[in-house]
Amino acid sequence: MDISLYKPKRRIKQKHLLHLKDYSATDIYEILYLTQKLKNAFRHGKKHRLLKNNTLAMIFSTPSTRTRLAFETGIQQLGGRSIFLSDEDMQCSRGESMHDTALVLSRYGIDGAVIRTHAQSDVEELAKYGNFPVINGLTDSFDPCQALSDIFTIWETFGHLEGKKLAYFGDGNNTANSLMLAGAKTGMKVCVCSPKEYAPAEDIVTLARNFGDVTITNDTEEAAADADVIYTDVFFSMGQKRTAEKEAALAPYQVNSKILHAAQKDAVFMHCLPARRGEEVTESVIDSTHSIIFEQAENKLHAQKAVMTLLMNKK
Ligand code: CP
Ligand code: NVA
Repeated sequence: MDISLYKPKRRIKQKHLLHLKDYSATDIYEILYLTQKLKNAFRHGKKHRLLKNNTLAMIFSTPSTRTRLAFETGIQQLGGRSIFLSDEDMQCSRGESMHDTALVLSRYGIDGAVIRTHAQSDVEELAKYGNFPVINGLTDSFDPCQALSDIFTIWETFGHLEGKKLAYFGDGNNTANSLMLAGAKTGMKVCVCSPKEYAPAEDIVTLARNFGDVTITNDTEEAAADADVIYTDVFFSMGQKRTAEKEAALAPYQVNSKILHAAQKDAVFMHCLPARRGEEVTESVIDSTHSIIFEQAENKLHAQKAVMTLLMNKK
């Protein structure tokens, strides 16, 4: 169903946000409509204590600027509070299992948790043994909060999603995986353009293709042609060692003005940030009038507030 025909009900059946594999188009639309409402309220200085007195545990074992800021300020704006638990603060860094951590957190009246870590299995373990909703704030495999907020940004920019082409260039990483799932489920055409050795994982591509139009190519012209959104991410994700070999393999996939010109006239440039200017994208593109990266960054606040509200406000 096209998003414009959907009437939001302000609830979703999902208990957690682990990876979007099991999210339906309507679950995603619920998040997008609430994001729109919360952004509007924010713009007009309207208070909305939808998570009054709720406590969000924030377990972050890798760095973050946007995701952390969006969850911390977001939960405050919703009337709740957060407890930030970095790797050094947690006994997990000394070998305590996620199983035991989940059972302990369950005894302290936590209303929800966001976790940013490397292993997807840690996020799933926390959800399995905890008694609270778990939100994936990025793993090596997926970044569902980013993809939801990006799809919102695309909807807000163009007024619809159905048939819009998103062309992603570069490393077939966590960002690409989640964009394929979210884009395919919301009726977009998603094209990932990478060298074969850095293409997204086949099982995720196969899964995403069950829901919609997903193309994988190493032809940059084919990918850019008629694209409405040109998207890229860093060549080296957190925890990955820089190698000359990967840098050379990905260099031809840099988003530059040639790629932007091959896209639609009104195409936008997106990047989840942080960016390495001059590596995966040229300065001329990231600073061009096509670039909507800071709108995109702001929308993480609104989208993450929507995710928290729909998952935590179920009592
Ligand atoms: N896009 C994003 O998740 O940014 P941070 O790593 O700064 O949170
Ligand atoms: N792919 C990047 C995204 C950062 C928001 C990383 O995992 O480091």
